[in-house]
Amino acid sequence: MDYLVWGVRVGVYMQSQRVYFTMQTAYKSTFCNRVLEREHLKKNIAKGKHTVIVAPRRYGKTSLACQVLSEIEGTYAEIDLFCAVSAKSICDKIAKGVSVLIRQILPFTEKTMHLLGACFKSSVISVVAGQLEIKVEFAKPAINPVDEMVNLLSGLEQIAKKQKKRIVLFLDEFQDLLKVDQSSEIQAAIRSVAQKAEYLMFIFSGSSRHMLKKIFDDRGQPLYMLCDKIDLKRIGADHFKAHIQKAAQKKWANEIPADMAQHILTITELHPYYVNLLCDKLWDNDDMPTTIETVEAVWNECLIGYKDKLIADLEPLNTNKMKVLNGFALLDKVREPNSKYFLDTVGLSLGSAQKAIAYLMQHDYIYKTEARDVMLVDPLLKKFITGKIEYV
Ligand SMILES: Nc1ncnc2c1ncn2[C@@H]1O[C@H](COP(=O)(O)OP(=O)(O)OP(=O)(O)O)[C@@H](O)[C@H]1O
Ligand SMILES: [Mg+2]
Repeated sequence: MDYLVWGVRVGVYMQSQRVYFTMQTAYKSTFCNRVLEREHLKKNIAKGKHTVIVAPRRYGKTSLACQVLSEIEGTYAEIDLFCAVSAKSICDKIAKGVSVLIRQILPFTEKTMHLLGACFKSSVISVVAGQLEIKVEFAKPAINPVDEMVNLLSGLEQIAKKQKKRIVLFLDEFQDLLKVDQSSEIQAAIRSVAQKAEYLMFIFSGSSRHMLKKIFDDRGQPLYMLCDKIDLKRIGADHFKAHIQKAAQKKWANEIPADMAQHILTITELHPYYVNLLCDKLWDNDDMPTTIETVEAVWNECLIGYKDKLIADLEPLNTNKMKVLNGFALLDKVREPNSKYFLDTVGLSLGSAQKAIAYLMQHDYIYKTEARDVMLVDPLLKKFITGKIEYV
């Protein structure tokens, strides 16, 4: 009982704190702006163009797709391929997504069962707890999960066409496909359906930009040139300011001082995840942040909380890569990474520095801003590297 009471109190408390800032997928009131990107994605869906959303980690790819899917009238399902370990497990996930979509576009009647039987010839169609379910019978001898995927996706397209309903399948963490044995065959299977589909749209995304590039930007790969690409950048300062002030009004019935909002955005460098992390902690306090020291102290708490994760992020880097990363962190912004000044700072030859820079860029440790400066992607990692940890 105590636990229940506590649980309810925590639930209510969390909800009032998290209305505007979340560490999870941003949605509705926690979702800020992305007006142009939302329009872009909606247009693609309306025009029947498949889309891949790319960006460094935690920029808001999943949030954008989910927000748009909730805004459109069409039918959609999300399939997260995170940790999919085999073609069979991907096929199972696709079968679940297909079942979700079918339930939304087909009424449940005897006629429906006949139609499903005709469109999904090799699948098992059953009714579980009053809900239609389409499954692949892997116990059958010589069953090939890749062929089954084609059957499932083509069956779905056929039904969508018959019902004249546009449907969207959002495949997130798509790069995990590269870890399974039949990866190329699965990509070819998806291409074979996607390139002919009129009613079934695909949105692809994933947390590894580097791996998504291998799938979608390599001429030798089946999904090359299949999609329109949305390259997500950070959210503009003005949009974030308005979002923050709306949250301040809600929490303290007043806006926070404009220089505090600016300071939050300066130290988090408009990185969506870190804006949310810092604000979420600031909004936990009863008093609104009115001094730079308060904001800095909470940013420091973030650093202490994330120290282990940051150390793990640095683990794959050898000495040269660390030297270069340190150089970018210390100089904050670098316009000319090939300059003598930068090479002297990091103590490397041009060739070694360039090799390290290419790796760091490819793996999203550093990025080129719209003003063409090179900076660290992760503002907390920069704070960590520059040694500004102040244990309180
Ligand atoms: N439009 C937005 N408005 C407010 N916060 C956002 C927005 N987009 C993303 N965020 C926040 O940024 C963080 C990362 O979001 P999300 O998980 O959507 O990113 P992602 O790019 O899919 O991440 P990953 O690379 O890990 O898959 C979350 O804290 C989320 O709440
Ligand atoms: Mg994501």
